[in-house]
Amino acid sequence: MTITIRNLSKTFGDGDSATTVLDDVSFSVESGEIFAVVGPSGAGKSTLARCINLLERPTSGEVIVNGDSLTQLTSTELRQARRRIGTVFQSSSLLSRRTAAANVALPLEYLGATKAATKTRVGELLERVGLGDKAQKYPHQLSGGQRQRVGIARALALKPSVLLSDEATSGLDRVATESYLTLLDTLRTDLDLAVVFITHEMETIVKVADRVGRLDHGTLREQGDIVDIALDAQSLLGAQLRAPGRATAAAADTVAVSVTYGSPTVPADWLSRLGTELSVPIALLGANIQSIGGVAVGEATLGVPAGRLPEFTRVAKTLGLHSQSESTRVDDDLLAEVPA
Ligand SMILES: Nc1ncnc2c1ncn2[C@@H]1O[C@H](COP(=O)(O)OP(=O)(O)OP(=O)(O)O)[C@@H](O)[C@H]1O
Ligand SMILES: [Mg+2]
Repeated sequence: MTITIRNLSKTFGDGDSATTVLDDVSFSVESGEIFAVVGPSGAGKSTLARCINLLERPTSGEVIVNGDSLTQLTSTELRQARRRIGTVFQSSSLLSRRTAAANVALPLEYLGATKAATKTRVGELLERVGLGDKAQKYPHQLSGGQRQRVGIARALALKPSVLLSDEATSGLDRVATESYLTLLDTLRTDLDLAVVFITHEMETIVKVADRVGRLDHGTLREQGDIVDIALDAQSLLGAQLRAPGRATAAAADTVAVSVTYGSPTVPADWLSRLGTELSVPIALLGANIQSIGGVAVGEATLGVPAGRLPEFTRVAKTLGLHSQSESTRVDDDLLAEVPA
């Protein structure tokens, strides 16, 4: 267990003006694991990020890294301990008058590392994030995605065991986002990092996260396996996700089947149940949730072994799913069931 957030609460102000922004938030992330926190604007995500890296003192609760409770430490001890958590913020907050290399060197300079040691380490870090050739560029000479990768390099400078990413992909285009996510995925394995990935983009977390918690008005409402949450139409209303990255590679004898479902009638863990009943993993190739007459209606494309198709169709029906090969339209009889 690398990082544990235990019963963390944060209230700003006091008396009549007190606002509780985080209310009893708890979760743990193991090294090598990516835990996503997703939630709408104002849910408390950035406050959570600042409480995790102790830029903000929580009102109550604990942040425990490698068994040590950081919230119990004095300010001096905390300065040391904070090194265990590297943070990447939205648009990286790089210093504009410093080169990429000089930005990455910053935490090492604060630490009093020698010039030679700093130079070597910065070189390694920039190589690791794929920017070995950009060391002497200034932030304005880099793309948004490159700047975020410099941000990662800087966050890793002091060899943290936890990497915290707050909206680091917001504002990046699809290609830059993919490249950031791929890097995160590689780093967590290579460096055995526990990653806390905070975002409002559901689409993004489906690609990297192992588990996800949903922050809603300061409360962490659900924690669980990414697939179950991603497919819970109610929690995803209005969101779009395309998840080819996480789908198990479709074999040659796999057929694409489109299923549609209405949230009130279908269990949230329907995909796991399908897999269990058929004793074969069903690949999620894509999914899309929309609101029809105020009811969340989901559509997902699944990879089903061709030989199991008749059985699949039967089990899907018992779960209340409407399935059809190929067509991705929400079928008419489902629409007919939805109250206007
Ligand atoms: N220092 C503060 N004093 C008072 N209220 C604050 C303070 N910081 C944040 N808040 C309030 O806490 C709530 C959550 O803010 P926060 O920035 O954590 O949300 P967020 O989920 O990161 O949103 P976004 O997706 O827009 O970044 C907001 O209502 C905000 O006004
Ligand atoms: Mg925020």
